[in-house]
Amino acid sequence: MSFPIVRNRRLRTSGALRNLVREHAYTVNDLIYPLFVTHGTGIKEEIPSMPGVYHYSLDRLQEELEETVGLGIQAILLFGVPETKDAQGTSAFEDQGIVQEATRFIKERYPDLLVIADTCLCQFTDHGHCGMIHHHPSTGRAEIDNDTSLELLARTAVSQAKAGADIIAPSNMMDGYVHAIRTALDEEGFHHTPIMAYSVKYASAFYGPFRDAAHSAPQFGDRKTYQMDPANAREALREADSDVVEGADMLIVKPALAYMDIIRSVKDNFDLPVVAYNVSAEYSMVKAAAANGWIDEKAIVTETLTGFKRAGADMIITYHAKDAARWQKGE
Ligand code: PBG
Repeated sequence: MSFPIVRNRRLRTSGALRNLVREHAYTVNDLIYPLFVTHGTGIKEEIPSMPGVYHYSLDRLQEELEETVGLGIQAILLFGVPETKDAQGTSAFEDQGIVQEATRFIKERYPDLLVIADTCLCQFTDHGHCGMIHHHPSTGRAEIDNDTSLELLARTAVSQAKAGADIIAPSNMMDGYVHAIRTALDEEGFHHTPIMAYSVKYASAFYGPFRDAAHSAPQFGDRKTYQMDPANAREALREADSDVVEGADMLIVKPALAYMDIIRSVKDNFDLPVVAYNVSAEYSMVKAAAANGWIDEKAIVTETLTGFKRAGADMIITYHAKDAARWQKGE
């Protein structure tokens, strides 16, 4: 009689044994929760394509912060939805900008909660691009002007740091942005403010619900001249490498689910902490399927977050953070 030489099932025979040999798990310490803040009063408005995620005016933010902190979540990623937009994205870097106001509001009440400020211009520009538009002097063609964008991004980062942001997270994908922001922060004495760089950011359809949420869809063209082609993997290493050279402290890979291989290769090739951004459509798809009773939401989200850890993520930015924290507590 033939029989298996190797019995891999031996270590799966009980829950306790499976717990003992488990290789990866996420904890609440790994989770970063994105928050959308807006001007005005009395606003708690659910984003239709992202059930359970809201826009808050500052007077309504308290309840959300209390819940988040109460669940043990230690870091939030702040997105501003401004009242006014212009060609330069002025409301991104003015002292009374929504992100600056919200940062002061949060740090006054929750000094230990890490405020990570998303540093980009697309929510704040009337054209919805992440950088400045200029017309090339000889061809007249409209293009995203890399170098003038850098100045405005650096101003945005400094104003966020001055408002009390703990970490700067630039998501604009301009070349040289980490260097420009690092230099500007250092000049203002923010030597210890880390940069969590969106180093590997693909031009992805998975940002659709976020763009509805942040009113940040480009008004013409797309983001393919600055965000990466989803078909490319080696290019991700070049993007990460330039950010590391320029002084990035943490490296984001975004989106996450369709890019597990990229998370792994960034992890293997660099020794900085790697962040997986579990983006808006990844969340919306789960929510939609769960609402239809087609999937077990808790099991799906737990498996997904564990998968990010297995792929090499040290941290996970996720709209599921509050639920995941609750489930970890056994609720
Ligand atoms: C801003 C920004 C975007 C996201 C985070 N920062 C949108 C974009 O690049 O179009 C997307 C996040 C998500 O989909 O959850 N540049």
